[in-house]
Amino acid sequence: MKFKITVLSGDGIGPEVTAEAVRVLRIMAEFCGYDFRFQEKPFGGAAYKAHGSPFPRPTLEACLESDAVLLGAVGAPEFDRLPRQHRPETGLLQLRTALGGYANLRPVISYKPIADCSPLQSSVVDGANILVVRELLGGLYFDERRGFEPDHSRAFNTMSYSVGEIERIAHVGFQEARRRRRKLTSVDKANVLETSQLWREVVGRVAAEYPDVKLDHMYVDACAMHLVSDPRRFDVILTENLFGDILSDESAVITGSLGMLASATIGGTVNLYEPVHGSAPDIAGRSIANPLGAIGSAALLLRYSAHMEQEAQDIECAIRCVLDAGYRTADLARGHSRAVVTTSEMGAQVEKVVADILDSRHAYHAV
Ligand code: IPM
Ligand code: MN
Repeated sequence: MKFKITVLSGDGIGPEVTAEAVRVLRIMAEFCGYDFRFQEKPFGGAAYKAHGSPFPRPTLEACLESDAVLLGAVGAPEFDRLPRQHRPETGLLQLRTALGGYANLRPVISYKPIADCSPLQSSVVDGANILVVRELLGGLYFDERRGFEPDHSRAFNTMSYSVGEIERIAHVGFQEARRRRRKLTSVDKANVLETSQLWREVVGRVAAEYPDVKLDHMYVDACAMHLVSDPRRFDVILTENLFGDILSDESAVITGSLGMLASATIGGTVNLYEPVHGSAPDIAGRSIANPLGAIGSAALLLRYSAHMEQEAQDIECAIRCVLDAGYRTADLARGHSRAVVTTSEMGAQVEKVVADILDSRHAYHAV
């Protein structure tokens, strides 16, 4: 099988963590006899510096011609003052629009060996396993009714959602719930916002097609509280773009580190895979970043784009395994006496476990 992956490693720690995700995908392809082709393209602040645009046309074309896009991170303080069209974050939003993926899936898993990395009590987070389904192409982020008054005395953004936009993301939420524990919490602010009232109405209608999934509605403020006081009550959280952005960072606290979170953006022409964390300029270039969010995103790539479910699980299993064995990047080192490993040492450990898993399966089949 030939499979083309465009790699946009971007800024800050993006290149460091993406290299580890690519390493794990390579070993997977090698063992399975698949022909994975990787092509790296400029993106984000790095692309702005080299080509005058955070999302150059050749990068767009390469993405559209590939089977999946793997992204690192974008942004750095040096670009913060640029006009909006040149900012790395704008490049990311343009990429999301161009690829068309409207459903951003962010699994939040509390792994037992690192449960004590969370500032929350282990008794609260232990066993938590949530999937945040974030609408990614609508809401405040994209509505063109936005701007500053000429004298900068006021600024405004507009939140709007159409029935169609809500319906399509709701279907993804219910379908994902079916692959899990069949519980979906739809999060909104329907006591104040019309968009949320429509959201609630439409999600309720779509629910009729999924009678086997238990639906409840929750206000976003209450959700923010329950996430950290009782995260195990959640299975799938379905929400709009900005709420999903905020709640997914908050839920990283459950796992112990933002570096653990992976994501998949599906539903468009080409799916996009990226860790949830940002470019972390403060630790860039020091090889101390946690690559597990990026590696987890590679697992999602195998699941949602390459239809290699077993291999996706193998990577997820390897992540669990290296944590069990005590390997920790600096962000996970809290209270641990074990030596802290670098970004690439962590990647190498995952690669090794993946190879062991594949080896033993191969040996089993050969008997
Ligand atoms: C994320 C990020 C982005 C977002 C930024 C970088 C535009 O925070 O993927 O969560 O807000 O969507
Ligand atoms: Mn975010």
